[in-house]
Amino acid sequence: MPFPEGFLWGGATAANQCEGAYDEGGRGLANVDVIPHGSERNDVSRGLRRMLDFEPGYYYPAQTGIDFYHHYREDIELFAEMGFKVFRLSIAWTRIFPHGDEETPNEEGLAFYEDVFRCCRAHGIEPLVTITHFDCPIHLVKEYGAWRNRKLIDFYKKLVRVLFTRYKGLVRWWITFNEMNMILHRPFMGAGIVLEPGENPLAAEYRAAHNELVASAWAVKIAHEIDPENKVGCMLAAGSYYPYSCRPEDVRAAQLKNQENYFFVDVQSRGYYPGYAAKFLEHEGIDVGMTDEDEKILAENTVDFISFSYYSSRCIAGDPSIAGGVAEGNAFAGVENPFVRTSDWGWIIDPLGFRITINDLWDRYQKPLFVVENGLGAYDEVKPDGSIDDDYRIEYLREHIEAMRDAIEEDGVEMLGYTTWGPIDLVSAGSGEMEKRYGFIYVDRDNQGSGTLARSKKKSFSWYKQVIATNGKDLG
Ligand code: BG6
Repeated sequence: MPFPEGFLWGGATAANQCEGAYDEGGRGLANVDVIPHGSERNDVSRGLRRMLDFEPGYYYPAQTGIDFYHHYREDIELFAEMGFKVFRLSIAWTRIFPHGDEETPNEEGLAFYEDVFRCCRAHGIEPLVTITHFDCPIHLVKEYGAWRNRKLIDFYKKLVRVLFTRYKGLVRWWITFNEMNMILHRPFMGAGIVLEPGENPLAAEYRAAHNELVASAWAVKIAHEIDPENKVGCMLAAGSYYPYSCRPEDVRAAQLKNQENYFFVDVQSRGYYPGYAAKFLEHEGIDVGMTDEDEKILAENTVDFISFSYYSSRCIAGDPSIAGGVAEGNAFAGVENPFVRTSDWGWIIDPLGFRITINDLWDRYQKPLFVVENGLGAYDEVKPDGSIDDDYRIEYLREHIEAMRDAIEEDGVEMLGYTTWGPIDLVSAGSGEMEKRYGFIYVDRDNQGSGTLARSKKKSFSWYKQVIATNGKDLG
């Protein structure tokens, strides 16, 4: 068998991209709720706009998402029909602590997730829970400056203690933060950072990163204390950087970009700041505020496994002007790679790059790997009879699963599982669109929020069902 017994096949979502019901169940407002869609989506990331509340009359996709809040039973039933072993989802912090700094949690929010987890378990599906998937309570953004403030470590500790206690026995797999390295690319979405006039962006971002790294280590400690069965992972927006050519300047540029990314996992997996990071911060004059206690907590509480998303490899040149143009992808723009094809959104499609990335991570950390996001965002056409032939999605996933199989079978990498991104269509994190679809399940919803929200199966639904049923043997 190419895939180990008990390999966790499934799909992954995030609260802010599918739950909706932003003002139900006592929920508070979060940064992710107020991010606009389309071309305006990323203005906030460098503090160009201060959109800390809703603008009347403007459509915010996160407000309604795909209304998973009211449809979760139906959706989980469909995941079960595909044979999911695991379902990755995230907690909306503001359902548990609406402002983030309350003394006691909101019971309605806790009860909601308890129902969701029980529903998963009733279908034999293991929940894999991301504690923070880009969301930060708006109150913490406005009152404390979000993650650049160390106080957030304490608020996060309180949140995780509540979660690990309440869901003991129901949830065993946890991820502390989604794609922590996104802070450097989308600081508002990644860590609620709104830059002050004249503030050094890098300093704010690395301070926020440090606080999240320390909070993450505390979460590992608390999780293990409450239940030694808990497995806690970090999560990286992965995709190795290739040098544009064998010019040493290109190779060095790729090395630096890879280090910029690995920094987060280096700390979470090894327990200390690597030399290159310490020197970089010193050179930039950035003091992240490391305390003796931080050092100890980081050193003693490294993660149990390394999870990551992979959509694309990346390419970088020492001198970008020599390269063809910009390749988009997951907020990590690089130069165009002439040897690979791209998606409708210009994201590089590189299955061999997946195998390379898996090997890079395994070689560097020697800890079990969990692929918690992989997939193709594409336009889907609904035929008059309601069917959707998404062969392009099947092809993308097949090629990537083959690459993962090779990494296990031929390269000897230890892999825990694989969850595709967006097993059901959901709101795009990058653009706020609905029509950038990833799902095996179609959701009748458009970019402006119109549609019945009805769910229907695409062609890829039965394909993935077969993949899981044969433990990855039959890839169609
Ligand atoms: C990852 C995020 O970066 O990429 C997800 O963790 C996101 O939240 C996914 O949805 C795909 O990106 P996009 O922009 O196509 O939604």
